[in-house]
Amino acid sequence: MKVTVVGAGAVGASCAEYIAIKDFAAEVVLIDIKEGFAEGKAMDLMQTASLNGFDTKVTGTTNDYSKTAGSDVAVITSGIPRKPGMTREELISTNAGIVKNVAESLMKHSPDVIIIVVSNPMDTMTYLAHKATGLAKNRIIGMGGALDSARFKYRLAEALDCPASDVDGMVIGGHSDTGMIPLTRLATRNSVPVSEFLDQGKLDYVRDETKVGGATLTKLLGTSAWYAPGAAVSAMVQAIACDSQKMFPCSSYLEGEYGLSDICLGVPAIIGRNGIERLVEIDLNDAEKANMEESAAAVSKMNDVLKEMNLV
Ligand code: 2OP
Repeated sequence: MKVTVVGAGAVGASCAEYIAIKDFAAEVVLIDIKEGFAEGKAMDLMQTASLNGFDTKVTGTTNDYSKTAGSDVAVITSGIPRKPGMTREELISTNAGIVKNVAESLMKHSPDVIIIVVSNPMDTMTYLAHKATGLAKNRIIGMGGALDSARFKYRLAEALDCPASDVDGMVIGGHSDTGMIPLTRLATRNSVPVSEFLDQGKLDYVRDETKVGGATLTKLLGTSAWYAPGAAVSAMVQAIACDSQKMFPCSSYLEGEYGLSDICLGVPAIIGRNGIERLVEIDLNDAEKANMEESAAAVSKMNDVLKEMNLV
């Protein structure tokens, strides 16, 4: 399994590190436009191989896409991260052109690649990659829901004062401070609905803190988070590499699912060697359906900006 990670910044480097340590890929290629940056990060990572006990070969290149040839999976983290007070949507004018070029460059050297988009605004960048590459929709996946769900579980565990391994929960909808939908109704603590332990006020708090989880960290860090985003996308790469058939909420191209079409939005998806093996339509209540429609409307508006920019 050959994996390319585009962007050797904090998220890309964390993703490469987790992939290397999990040791399921033969090779990870880190690529960045900054002279020597990807090479340096790759060399630094390889110097942990004897300490962390992995055989994965991590290499770096300064913008030479020929080095990414034959990649099975490519993760796009390139573009700028948000600063405190910014929304992810505000990054579109800078990041859209970068993501389009990157997706096209990847395709040139790896026509059968599965692309996972991390760059923000992620749902719209996923839609752009879908349109720019013409890849089958199962080979274009947006990573947002896996990260948001991890933050949801963190907040649930905090509220329940229990280990995160004891809780389960999923976030669907758009990867945005207002558009994501933590499914508190379906969350469980070791198969018991969390509503058995938390009152509505606490559940609303968990939901609201989850939605601004990224912004909370950006305020503390002065830039976007990287450990959990890197871990979330590396888990998706592993599910592809190992054909795990694991279910993640992923930004997927919809053609009627959840009553939505021609949009990429976070829905439950089974991830395996073919990328998105299939989408899962779960029963939503009226409030959740309304939230999905609202979230989709906001993402569609961002997709229209791509049209104004003549990128799709
Ligand atoms: C986040 O929420 C970077 O969008 C990513 O941290």
